[in-house]
Amino acid sequence: MLRSASLVHAASQTAPKRVAVIPGDGIGKEVIPQAVKVLKAAAAAGGRELALTEFDWGADRYLRAGTTLPPDAPEMFRRDFDGILLGALGDPRTPENRHANDILMGLRLKLDLYVNLRPCILFDRRLTPLKDRAEKDISFTIVRENTEGIYVGMGGFFKKGTPDEIAAQEDVNTRKGVERIIRYAFDLARRRGLKRLCMSDKSNALAFGHNLWQRVFAEVRCEYADIESRHLYIDNLMMQLVRDPSQFEVIVTCNLFGDIASDLGAALIGGLGLAPSGNIRPGQVSVFEPVHGSAPDIAGKNQANPMGASLAAAMMCEHVGWTAEAQSIENAVRAAIREGKTTPDLGGTMGTRELGDWLANRFAPLG
Ligand code: NAD
Ligand code: IPM
Ligand code: MN
Repeated sequence: MLRSASLVHAASQTAPKRVAVIPGDGIGKEVIPQAVKVLKAAAAAGGRELALTEFDWGADRYLRAGTTLPPDAPEMFRRDFDGILLGALGDPRTPENRHANDILMGLRLKLDLYVNLRPCILFDRRLTPLKDRAEKDISFTIVRENTEGIYVGMGGFFKKGTPDEIAAQEDVNTRKGVERIIRYAFDLARRRGLKRLCMSDKSNALAFGHNLWQRVFAEVRCEYADIESRHLYIDNLMMQLVRDPSQFEVIVTCNLFGDIASDLGAALIGGLGLAPSGNIRPGQVSVFEPVHGSAPDIAGKNQANPMGASLAAAMMCEHVGWTAEAQSIENAVRAAIREGKTTPDLGGTMGTRELGDWLANRFAPLG
């Protein structure tokens, strides 16, 4: 399972952070090496020590050896790592998506990474497709429930392949799960000095599962009178996000709606190539990845934008307490956008590798 391990030494201020790197499939294998380069440069510039271990889990390995997530992986990550940087999983050669589900969903569920944090921040007004919108109008974070809902894999087929086939997929919502994600969103708003929180569900149609969201929200919001909180049905929220995104600061929603909302959010800030995410369990080893997938349409062409992956590395820095390094990576991305150093998705002409080099070179030379 282990491919390579390396240590980046610098005038170390603290213990090395142990980071697992899983490039995965498609453009994951292109953007992650760039994000790692940027992370190494930021760490070196900050006098931090980084211990990187790469894992070759993905479609190639699955097709070759039939293996996906090793059974001891969750325990190993909890024990031996501070953070996990993931590219993307998914490959046209494996349409049943078995390895991607085992690895991605396996990590989310088995490490109980119950928060999927997906910031949607417009770095430059030239990047939004919305008319007359500026940076101040688009700055919100989606807090997606990440361990329950329709993603738990409960269900099955009955009379499969016959005209009478039934396919059932259960939507699982637990009191504990709903409460902890809603509380996390309120606490996040408080911690960041934000004032507006929106909980979104579909309780008008999902009269059981999302009724629970309604009741828990009604209870928890009473403890956060300093935050202006409201509820929107998900269909209305999608419309409002396009009509006037400045209404939103923190959005909390279920697993499936959070997935869909985060691609829309990415589109508002310039596209999937720019959007990072963190699969987080507070205080524990967590997985950071760009929001995008393996993008088979552009894989292998040195065209993919490495910014989302680099910003995911920045979120990982933040999670492990490297606040200055997180900020410096974000600053490098902002500078690249300002100076038009971008890949084709943002209107530029740079390649994935060339942009990775440009971003890494923003930092002081490696020691
Ligand atoms: P996708 O995110 O891979 O691609 C959607 C579109 O966005 C494509 O046109 C692609 O070229 C573009 N795009 C994505 N990332 C980009 C980048 N960094 N730079 C420039 N353009 C970029 O979504 P999809 O096509 O629906 O899915 C492809 C595969 O990825 C599927 O197997 C899917 O299941 C998987 N997937 C995995 C993850 C993950 O691992 N977290 C996330 C989403 C999709
Ligand atoms: C994401 C992806 C995954 C999800 C897929 C690949 C299962 O779209 O991370 O946004 O739906 O969570
Ligand atoms: Mn998605």
